[in-house]
Amino acid sequence: MRNYNEGSAANPTPTAPITVPSGLDNVIVATTQISDVDGEAGRLTYRGMPITDVAERFPTWTALVPWLVTGRAGAPPEGWAGRAASGIPELSDPMARLAMLVLAAGDSAVLDTPLDGAAFVQTLPVQYAALLRPQAVTAPHDAAHGFLAAMTGHPPTPDEVAALNAYWVLAAEHSLNASTFAVRVAASTGARLPEALAAGIATLSGPLHGGAPTGVLSQLAALEGETDLEAALQNLLERGERLMGFGHRVYRTEDPRARRLRAVLHTLAGPGSAGHAARVEEAALAVLTRWKPTRPLAVNVEFYAALVLSALGLSAPDCPVTFACARLAGWTAHYWEQRDTGRLIRPLARYAANP
Ligand code: ACO
Repeated sequence: MRNYNEGSAANPTPTAPITVPSGLDNVIVATTQISDVDGEAGRLTYRGMPITDVAERFPTWTALVPWLVTGRAGAPPEGWAGRAASGIPELSDPMARLAMLVLAAGDSAVLDTPLDGAAFVQTLPVQYAALLRPQAVTAPHDAAHGFLAAMTGHPPTPDEVAALNAYWVLAAEHSLNASTFAVRVAASTGARLPEALAAGIATLSGPLHGGAPTGVLSQLAALEGETDLEAALQNLLERGERLMGFGHRVYRTEDPRARRLRAVLHTLAGPGSAGHAARVEEAALAVLTRWKPTRPLAVNVEFYAALVLSALGLSAPDCPVTFACARLAGWTAHYWEQRDTGRLIRPLARYAANP
């Protein structure tokens, strides 16, 4: 296998095809200033700032968005202000509904600059929730407040709003994950921002990416009442199932976002609230260490995200769409960064005729 960097610095396109590993493991396909993930050390930074400092500087996702997208703190958002896109079909899949909303709301929007993009996505979570209960939107200028009010049908407490904001700030961006790559591929073709965001939403919908919290909640429910958790988890592995909320393509240690969300859950629902989940986590780590002794498999962000979202009264099918709302920020930042490169992403495939 040849190395990715074999093209010359002057001409990054190599003259002969190169073969990269399946799943693009360890392949660098973009240069970014938006975030960095150090998988060995378990460190995440946004625009050079450690995620713990980001969480303190930006107590709300709404305030984070302009900074993440443009690199500069932005003006207060315009807010949802009741201008929901009309004519959205009543689709049963929440991710499909979000994609339709983004396309409809963006259809006639002026989206010429990163700041336009930031202002556009700041309004989307509340617009999405308002599709369900428009009359319940009480604070349209704070995305987390407006979203929770309309999703749950009751005014959220300050602790609930703070918990959703904490999750959204942590989940806003994560370098070149699968959905962000999809957005960058779409951006590289010159697609408009809403269409590129729809590509991100589609890619995030899969169970190995944004769909994981749903799997976490159903696995936790199935393990309720089990006396020997390690045996039950071992059984799942032997049946070929994956333990949802564990393992990561990049992290080889505990996901720093999971650590922070564990604390958010304790603040929201009390230290004993994760009782069953904490026992499952402990048993899963023991079983996974025996199952894959050479591959560190630790808890990932989705495990505690699922628990926080459930404590906020959101249902399992709402988890991926809530995650997608957060990630609209990172996708938008990557969209503009990719557009600036002016380079179409177009790899090759090796043709293998039918045997
Ligand atoms: N449970 C059981 N085994 C696992 C798990 C898991 N959660 N994660 C990895 N493994 C095993 C694999 O079976 C594989 O074994 P093999 O080498 O015998 O085939 C080995 O560990 C390496 O796994 P890969 O699939 O190569 O690792 P990859 O880096 O592609 O996987 C992934 C990352 C998809 C997240 C994986 O760990 C997984 O499926 N986890 C469960 C789903 C989940 O929690 N997803 C959320 C991820 S975080 C996010 O998207 C924001």
